Amino acid sequence: MNAVAAEDFTLDYIFESLNALPSFPKVVQKAMKLLDDPETTMEQLAEVLKYDQALTANILRLTNSAHFGISRQVTSLETALALLGQQQIRQVLIASASMPFLSKDTEGYNMQAADLWAHGMGCAIISEVVAARCGFSEPAVLFTAALLHDIGKTVMHLYVGPRIREIVTRANTGDVTFTEAEWAVLGGDHAVIGSDILRKWEFPPDIVRAVRNHHDPDLYMHDDLSAMLAISDIFAVQMGIGVGVDGFRYKIHPELPARLGMDQHSIHQCMLDGYSAYRKAADLLNLVEES
Ligand SMILES: [Fe+2]
Ligand SMILES: [Fe+2]
Repeated sequence: MNAVAAEDFTLDYIFESLNALPSFPKVVQKAMKLLDDPETTMEQLAEVLKYDQALTANILRLTNSAHFGISRQVTSLETALALLGQQQIRQVLIASASMPFLSKDTEGYNMQAADLWAHGMGCAIISEVVAARCGFSEPAVLFTAALLHDIGKTVMHLYVGPRIREIVTRANTGDVTFTEAEWAVLGGDHAVIGSDILRKWEFPPDIVRAVRNHHDPDLYMHDDLSAMLAISDIFAVQMGIGVGVDGFRYKIHPELPARLGMDQHSIHQCMLDGYSAYRKAADLLNLVEES
């Protein structure tokens, strides 16, 4: 069997395993559609969500995090929805539904259960600072893409793990990135697989595209959302938030900050603000370890 055939063989298995992945909670997708309608009331929203007890519990845990700035302890779904702003409701819904998917060991990348959640949430929190700096009008869209950008690792790590020596050796000795080494050995990478998962889960095309592009400079430089996601991810990695074996082995386009109108000073400020927002949300990051 030649090398290309072997890669296709592995990729077949990877795509096949996506079929076994549980679907994203339909109630959340329905709630997100309701939120698009300005006529929707919080009562209607609560009516859709309240029968999913695990989801409701996660919504309350997240709402009570310091990150969302509610000054009193919230114990009911209705109160949570009434106190959060529209953007925050979207963020809390997506994060609550994503928590079970992101609370997984991804040992193939040398990451523990808490790492993928911390990295996704850290990147999402940093992305809020990036969105504000770039004057982006839809921070909840960027937040969602950032939270879920590495979701492909939950599947890919099973295939990366057994071949990790080969991948890392290629990435260390050849002039290739981790992504290029993954492609050479497995015929795919976590960004491609992650975007496929989000497509199956019926996420909007711009989020699917940004996740697909997040390690590919040729792609993210041509799309605002992808570029903001890519820099948020780079900041999260540079801060050491949930970094796996692949962490520092990606190519960064030298013009990425300039593409987003950032100079050395604004990069520095973004990282400071991002890190302090991340530290403030420490309780939120501990949720996975507690569960
Ligand atoms: Fe990634
Ligand atoms: Fe990442």
